[in-house]
Amino acid sequence: MNRRNFLRTAMPAGAALAAGAASAQTGAPPCVPPRTADVVYEPTPLAVVDTLIAAAAVGPRDVVFDLGCGDGRFLVAAARRGATGVGFDLNVNLVEWAQANALAERVDERVRFEVRDLFTADLSRATVVTLYLLPELNLRVRPKLWKELAVGARVVSNAFDMGDWQPDRTFEVPTRYRRAYLWTIRPEHKRA
Ligand SMILES: C[S@@+](CC[C@H](N)C(=O)[O-])C[C@H]1O[C@@H](n2cnc3c(N)ncnc32)[C@H](O)[C@@H]1O
Repeated sequence: MNRRNFLRTAMPAGAALAAGAASAQTGAPPCVPPRTADVVYEPTPLAVVDTLIAAAAVGPRDVVFDLGCGDGRFLVAAARRGATGVGFDLNVNLVEWAQANALAERVDERVRFEVRDLFTADLSRATVVTLYLLPELNLRVRPKLWKELAVGARVVSNAFDMGDWQPDRTFEVPTRYRRAYLWTIRPEHKRA
């Protein structure tokens, strides 16, 4: 088992034990998510992550926000191309797992992860947003993307579209949903 897989297997349990021990020592309540997640965890295959990060032309000047970051794989791939980024997830174990993966991949100085509801995050610094949620969640987050992101920011989504927001590009990918999408924020979105 390589180091990354070991961390994937070991971290959630280890992190939970560590959190429990810290809590017992300090008397502080254990870290709890603000609410239940809107969709369960299912990772985007790494090949699809690479396709989408390349399609968004992520580079050293980009700030990538991953909304529902899971194990942090989109941000690790983005950081390997020189970007910085922030990942948000409501699942405490996944956030700790993502931090461990970033450390194992030696990109932990470029990315960070927060236990946070994606709908409460300020997206204005992001130049690229990555998503793998659900169709109805994409539609709920769409007005926030249009309002908070700057013109020229790119949005990529594994699996699900954005209703009548036409993508710049659609990709056939080897997943059960078979599709991935890329959009760019245009001036008309700022007036919507
Ligand atoms: C389908 S998984 C995708 C994980 C990762 N982005 C990937 O593509 O590999 C969706 C993730 O969104 C998280 N999530 C669901 N609702 C959320 C919310 N309101 N705020 C933040 N994260 C959320 C889940 O905990 C889960 O990790």
